Amino acid sequence: MMTAVNLAIVYYSSTGTVHALAQAAAEGAEKAGASVRLRRVRELAPPEAVNSNPAWAQHLKDTAGVQEATLEDLSWADAVLFGTPTRFGNVASQLKAFIDTAGGLWQQGGLAGRVFSAFTASGTPHGGQESTILALSNTFYHWGGIIVPPGYTDPIQFQTGNPYGTSHVAGAGAPGEDVLAAARHQARRVVDVAGALKAGRAAA
Ligand SMILES: Cc1cc2nc3c(=O)[nH]c(=O)nc-3n(C[C@H](O)[C@H](O)[C@H](O)COP(=O)(O)O)c2cc1C
Repeated sequence: MMTAVNLAIVYYSSTGTVHALAQAAAEGAEKAGASVRLRRVRELAPPEAVNSNPAWAQHLKDTAGVQEATLEDLSWADAVLFGTPTRFGNVASQLKAFIDTAGGLWQQGGLAGRVFSAFTASGTPHGGQESTILALSNTFYHWGGIIVPPGYTDPIQFQTGNPYGTSHVAGAGAPGEDVLAAARHQARRVVDVAGALKAGRAAA
């Protein structure tokens, strides 16, 4: 029997939006039969920055029990879903700092041929969701990854409308059921593609 797909969900979230998307993705992937590791990257902002925003300080406290991502999670994974809030249209520095520790693993070929996909949140509509996901995708190209975007592969995509990756406008409130369903769908799709690849490679 084919072994389950190993999916790592590696994310950064200051105030919980991306964390909620990551949790929904984990649900979708588990339902699709994957072994899932939900991992947050280390908070690198100084305490005075974190404490300047009560929602940020609270979320950090609330997620203290979520394991921190390590490079071993990347080498374990057949597929990785990355989540980041947009920061001036770009990837949050906390996630980028984690990615930038992967040089050795990349050099050993440890990231090539994996499946990658990404999701994000912004404060405002048109606030840089696509640019953030595309910026993250630059890394996947360098890793020789297989990028699996959600596209319009499920009716939910026509409701939330981001073919690049699940996205939420945090300024409008917490993610609603439609966005969470999109995150579940994206994860399912990643697991399906990674599973087909894994089975094909095992049979080769
Ligand atoms: C330094 C900084 C830069 C930001 N840049 C943008 C931006 O360019 N566009 C935007 O819509 N929101 C921007 N935001 C808002 C965040 O993207 C938003 O708060 C985040 O997506 C919420 O996700 P979280 O709850 O997971 O932290 C920025 C926030 C910070 C702190």
